[in-house]
Amino acid sequence: MCGIVGYIGQRNCVPILIEGLKRLEYRGYDSAGIGILNGSDSVIVKNKGKVSLLQEKVEQLNLSSTIGIGHTRWATHGIPNETNAHPHTNTDDSLFLIHNGIIENYQTLKKGLMNLGYRFRSETDSEVLPHLIDSFLRKGNDLVKSVQLALQEVEGTYGIAIIYTKEPDKIVAARKGSPLIVGLGQNENFVASDVSAVLAHTKQVVYLEDGEIAVITKNDFCAKTIYDDEIRKEVHEITMSLEEIDKGGYPHFMLKEIMEQPESLRNSMRGRILLEEGNAKLGGLADVADRLANSKRILISACGTSWHAGLVGEYMFEQFTRIPTEVEYASEFRYRNPIVGSDDTVFFISQSGETADTLAALREAKLRGALALGICNAVGSSIARESEAGVYTHAGPEIGVASTKAFTSQLVVLALITLLIGRKKNLSIEEGKKIASELFQIPDKVEKILKLNSEIESIASQFKDAKNFLYLGRGYNFPVALEGALKLKEISYIHAEGYPAAEMKHGPIALIDEDMPVVFIAPQDSTYEKIKSNIQEVKARGGKIIAVASENDNEIDHLVDYSIKIPDAIEMLRPILTVIPLQLLAYHIAVKKGLNVDQPRNLAKSVTVE
Ligand code: AGP
Repeated sequence: MCGIVGYIGQRNCVPILIEGLKRLEYRGYDSAGIGILNGSDSVIVKNKGKVSLLQEKVEQLNLSSTIGIGHTRWATHGIPNETNAHPHTNTDDSLFLIHNGIIENYQTLKKGLMNLGYRFRSETDSEVLPHLIDSFLRKGNDLVKSVQLALQEVEGTYGIAIIYTKEPDKIVAARKGSPLIVGLGQNENFVASDVSAVLAHTKQVVYLEDGEIAVITKNDFCAKTIYDDEIRKEVHEITMSLEEIDKGGYPHFMLKEIMEQPESLRNSMRGRILLEEGNAKLGGLADVADRLANSKRILISACGTSWHAGLVGEYMFEQFTRIPTEVEYASEFRYRNPIVGSDDTVFFISQSGETADTLAALREAKLRGALALGICNAVGSSIARESEAGVYTHAGPEIGVASTKAFTSQLVVLALITLLIGRKKNLSIEEGKKIASELFQIPDKVEKILKLNSEIESIASQFKDAKNFLYLGRGYNFPVALEGALKLKEISYIHAEGYPAAEMKHGPIALIDEDMPVVFIAPQDSTYEKIKSNIQEVKARGGKIIAVASENDNEIDHLVDYSIKIPDAIEMLRPILTVIPLQLLAYHIAVKKGLNVDQPRNLAKSVTVE
């Protein structure tokens, strides 16, 4: 889950690489490095820690070159330090390479190369690549041929970029499993893990597919397979603006993205709600809508927050389409020989569209003939491109590692799919109109909840020193309890668990004492009476209670220590509202602990390795 960027052109590449790496830092930020050509020599500068530290080092060296590559790392093999940072080189430093992914057979390759006399400087899997390519260069092959031959021996995932001092007019890049784009400019070209690193310079990009290699020069680029077949590539115009990926005056991307939700939710439903027909219009599913509606079973596969969205989707699909629905962790689904076939539809939910486990699960489902559909936020991402059809969530770029607006937009899209299928089955036009009109009102209700920001901040200050938290909800709000707990864990490093409230007395209630804050998602819905007794069970054992409750509920104030009153909505849409206070609670607790909210430790925005 590293970030890679490269430049070849007429300008000094050093500031361009550093800026690009800063935009990619959400992918990994434990060490960084750049490699440039200085005449016929390579100059490599690496550093442990964030890109800003590398920048200081580079500026002291006053470097300049018109060709270079840069890397920001999320360590998988070898601890974060200067030696293990990228670029890695061959023995005489004439070739240098950056890599995002994991070389699974690196030990075998390393042993073979050491038998040939190669010596390794780092503990990384990536370092086998420059030596392996070198072994083919020594046999008289040119750079492109050597890279192709080397990659034919590699097992695993990679997004790589390579520069060779003896062929200083090109950058060679290749992709398998890890995302890679080529940015096309005027007398300059770029390569990067995603568009955010090149957006300041061009909106013309080409997406590389698995098994493709790109040869990028100052004025041109061509694509081939690693078996040397020529490929014609389509150039895409990026519609995203640079502003969209800046903090917009907020202290953190996470808070900006929480506060953007009224707009991102409107974008997710724009042009997709047919109010008069009580239905939804999803162009991306038009060709498969009948097969989808006639599915014997629906499976939803995802990871992390997207998996939580899937759980809410399960409740929606089963309640309104009556199609049996199951939710699967993608990492388990891909390896457990799943029973899935042509009568089944499998939705793959992913904000980044690059999560390795979800991508592999998608390929597994397709292999078995299931209808594989994607729900993604990142346009042009691997999962979006490899699914047979799908829906973009249009939440806009999500930079903060902790997913917020992408989650609520995923819920809107799941509600729209529920409408689409339901109306093809047994959902009446009246019921459809009810859901459609309620969906329309959601963004305004979220705006109202966001006005509670400072109230939630003051509650957060009461709990910033807590060691544990328990989140409890029922029905549609059980997945919200899981999501609230995940947000807190991710950015505040406080241990937290989400549970169905009724499950508490089967064990977790043993954890309750005056030091255990308990968050109840307790709106006045069909589960309200039940959850009130759960609240009393916790109260009776001295637990400190925060409740997300309905705005007209005055009774609950007598039962809990803190209540956050939010507007009501029909049960299937309520998770979009009840999660917002939990996003803000986690955010403020982490800020009060002085933590780096946007780049929490040990995490990265898109998990492209398994
Ligand atoms: C959520 O805040 C986390 N960043 C993480 O759990 C994330 O949801 C998970 O890695 C899945 O990512 P995806 O939606 O991009 O596939």
